[in-house]
Amino acid sequence: MAIKSKVVLTGDRPTGPLHLGHLYGSLEERVRLQDDPKFQVYVMIADAQAYTDHADQPERIRQHVLEVMLDYLAVGIDPAKTTVFVQTGVPQIHELSIYLMNLVSLKQVLVNPTVKTEIKQKGMGEAVPAGFAMYPVHQAADILIVKGQVVPVGDDQKPMIELARELVRKFNATYGKVFPEPQSVTPSGGRLSGTDGSAKMSKTLGNTISLSDSADAVAKKVQSMYTDPGHVHAKDPGKVKGNVVFEYLDVFDPDQKEVAKLKRQYKNGGLGDVVLKTRLTEVLNDVLEPIRTRRKEYADDPAEALRLLEQGTGRARAVAEETIGQVRAAMKLDYFS
Ligand code: TRP
Repeated sequence: MAIKSKVVLTGDRPTGPLHLGHLYGSLEERVRLQDDPKFQVYVMIADAQAYTDHADQPERIRQHVLEVMLDYLAVGIDPAKTTVFVQTGVPQIHELSIYLMNLVSLKQVLVNPTVKTEIKQKGMGEAVPAGFAMYPVHQAADILIVKGQVVPVGDDQKPMIELARELVRKFNATYGKVFPEPQSVTPSGGRLSGTDGSAKMSKTLGNTISLSDSADAVAKKVQSMYTDPGHVHAKDPGKVKGNVVFEYLDVFDPDQKEVAKLKRQYKNGGLGDVVLKTRLTEVLNDVLEPIRTRRKEYADDPAEALRLLEQGTGRARAVAEETIGQVRAAMKLDYFS
């Protein structure tokens, strides 16, 4: 007897290339989940959501839909196991989000802490686009349209999933049960600091190492990485805590015994940053090399990558069609069927 698997949905905005923070924080987890028979995984490229803060950059978004798809394929997301789709290819999401907007107050949307932070960071102020303020509702529709039950997301996305749960309760109570309540789960990786030492690697902050960076680009970025500003000469004792080079070695270096030894040396004094950074460059390039190779194979044949995306989008759309039929019936909108 087949065990019923749980539906997992997650995704990314295609506004920049994916980076090491994504690899550690979410991509590795998705690759694991797709091989676990307990889960059925959907991964969505959120192009409509990208328009909520980049409405004037259609070329950029179009280009990054392909770039993100290449990143997915390169890290081992397998379209035969995972349904990879593009958000605007499933317009039922838009329809559902229009209905969901009536089940939440404007005030409730505007107090969402993540939205508030983003409005500040992006300097939107009073000019915040209405579509941007509403994106959490649209995001709930992303999840609900495939009846997602599990949503692996970082902490900043937790309020979005809370809202989705509230919308499910409200929808089911008002119109009858259509949706399961989705749950957020924290991926087993974690948050990676930016190369500049700030708390998060993020394209907005410009402190990323992209999965598509060349070996030389990686070397350059590592050379300029934040270590310990008090560690001027190799002979000086240095700090390991808050030192991004050590943080990355902790995460990516397969020889943790050696890392422990280097930490002792560094703290005692007598170990220069150059030695450490040379090691980290090698470690990261070892991680990235197979990804780069696979990425290049797909990048050489973008039509194939797009075909795979189209196929996944068709599968997601078929599921969405069924869900929206149930939504319309529950809402008494099924006049002609
Ligand atoms: N908001 C997410 C981000 O900025 C991307 C996203 C869109 C998403 N729809 C989603 C994540 C649905 C999880 C579930 O990274």
